Amino acid sequence: MRAWLQCDRCDATYPLHEVRYRCECGWLLDVTHELEGMRGVVSRETFDARHIELAGPRTSPKHSSGVWRYTELVLPVEDEEIVSRPEGNTPSYHHERLSEWVGLDEFCVKHEGENPTGSFKDRGMTVGVTQARALGARAVACASTGNTSASLAAYAAMAGLPALVFIPAGHIAYGKLSQALAYGARTFQIEGDFDDAMGLVQRVCEELDIFLLNSMNPFRLEGQKTIVFELLQSRGWVPPQWIVFPAGNLGNTAAFGKALHELHVLGLIDTIPRLVAVQAEGANPFYLGFMGGFRERVAVRAETIATAIRIGAPVSYWRAVRALRWTDGLVMQVSDQEIMDAKAQVDAAGIGCEPASAAAVAGVRKLVAEAVMDRSDSVVAILTGHLLKDPQSTVDYHSGDTSSSLKATYANRPIPIEASVDAVRRSLEGWL
Ligand SMILES: Cc1ncc(COP(=O)(O)O)c(C=O)c1O
Ligand SMILES: [Zn+2]
Repeated sequence: MRAWLQCDRCDATYPLHEVRYRCECGWLLDVTHELEGMRGVVSRETFDARHIELAGPRTSPKHSSGVWRYTELVLPVEDEEIVSRPEGNTPSYHHERLSEWVGLDEFCVKHEGENPTGSFKDRGMTVGVTQARALGARAVACASTGNTSASLAAYAAMAGLPALVFIPAGHIAYGKLSQALAYGARTFQIEGDFDDAMGLVQRVCEELDIFLLNSMNPFRLEGQKTIVFELLQSRGWVPPQWIVFPAGNLGNTAAFGKALHELHVLGLIDTIPRLVAVQAEGANPFYLGFMGGFRERVAVRAETIATAIRIGAPVSYWRAVRALRWTDGLVMQVSDQEIMDAKAQVDAAGIGCEPASAAAVAGVRKLVAEAVMDRSDSVVAILTGHLLKDPQSTVDYHSGDTSSSLKATYANRPIPIEASVDAVRRSLEGWL
C-alpha cells in the first residue's frame, strides 16, 4: 500500500514522513492513497473479516480499534507502532420518540461521544499521535475548543509524549478542561477565542519544532474518515441517503467527503450519501460561504452556546467545499434555542450528547420541516461529543437559569421537596 502527501491545488507531492501540513503553494495537504493498486486487494470482505475483539496486551489494533480496522485506507503501519485506546466501534441508536420528533421514519444517530475520551477526536488522534511517534516528534500541540485538547492529552500521555494545548480562556466546557489538566497536558489559557489560539499554535509549532495536531494535520483526517467507513460497514455497505453532522473547523466535513470519495472509487459503495454540515447561527462562516456559492472564504467573529463549534475562521474551509462538491452536500444553520431543544430531546431519549452534537439533530428536524428531506428518507446524524462534556449547559437549561436568554422548552426541573413519603406521593399525583 502506497501513500504520500499531496496538494489538491497544484498536485505537488511530498513523502509521508516529511513534517509538513501545507504545500509550498500554501494549500493544506492530503494523505493520498494509491487507490488504483488497492482495487481488488481491499474489499468489503477485508474489513468484514476483522472481527471486533476486546483489547488485551497482544490484541492487534486491527481487531480492537474501529480506526485501525481500515488501516489500508488510513495509514499503512505495523501494529507495534500504533498508539490506540482503542477507539471507534461506536454504537448507532434508533429511538422512536426521537425519530418522531425530527419527523422521519428511519432516523439513526451514531454516537461518537462514546469514544474513549468522549468525542470523535479520538479517531483522528490515534492516527496523529501514531504518526508523531513514528516521526520522532519531541512534543505535540493543538489549539482547541476543548475536545481536541482532551483527546490529544490522553493519547500523548499513552505515547509518553509531552503535550501543549491552547484554549480560549472562559470558553471551554468544564468536562473538557478537566480532562486536559488530568491527562497532564501543559494547558495554556489564552486571552482571545479559538481562532486566536489556532493562529498562535501554528507559530509555536513552527518556531519550537513541535508536531501540530489540529485537524489541519492531514493524518487527523485519515482517522476521522473511519466514522463514515464504520457507519457504512455497520449497514452492510448500504449507504443512507443523508449524513448530517455539526461543523466548526470543518475537519469532519473534509474527512467525510474524502472517505466517501475513496469508497466510491474503490467500488465499495455504489451511491454517495449527501453530506449536511450544520453550523450554529452565531458561528456560521461556512453557511455564509455556501449561500454565496463559495466564491470566497468567509470568516466571522463566533458566538454560540455550543462552545465546541464556536469557530469563526475554519481551517479546512476549501477541502470542506471539495467534500460538498463530491457529495452534492448542503450547509445549514440552526439557532442556539434549536440546538438546546434538540439536545433535550436526544438526552431524554436516554442517549445524551453535548450541545454541538445536537446541532446535527436540530438540522435534520429543520430539513424535514422545509421538505428538503422526505419522511421516508434514510438519515444518520453523527453525535460528536458526550453529554458529560458540558454538564453546565444541561443544568442551566433544565433549571431554567434566568441569566440565559434561552427558553427551557423541554425542561425537567429539579424538585425541592421535604424528606417525607407523603411529600413524594403528593408530588407524583397526576404524573405516574
Ligand atoms: C463535539 C464537537 N462537535 C463538532 C465539532 C466540529 O468538528 P469540525 O471541527 O471537524 O468541524 C467539534 C470540534 O471541536 C466538537 O468538539
Ligand atoms: Zn500546492
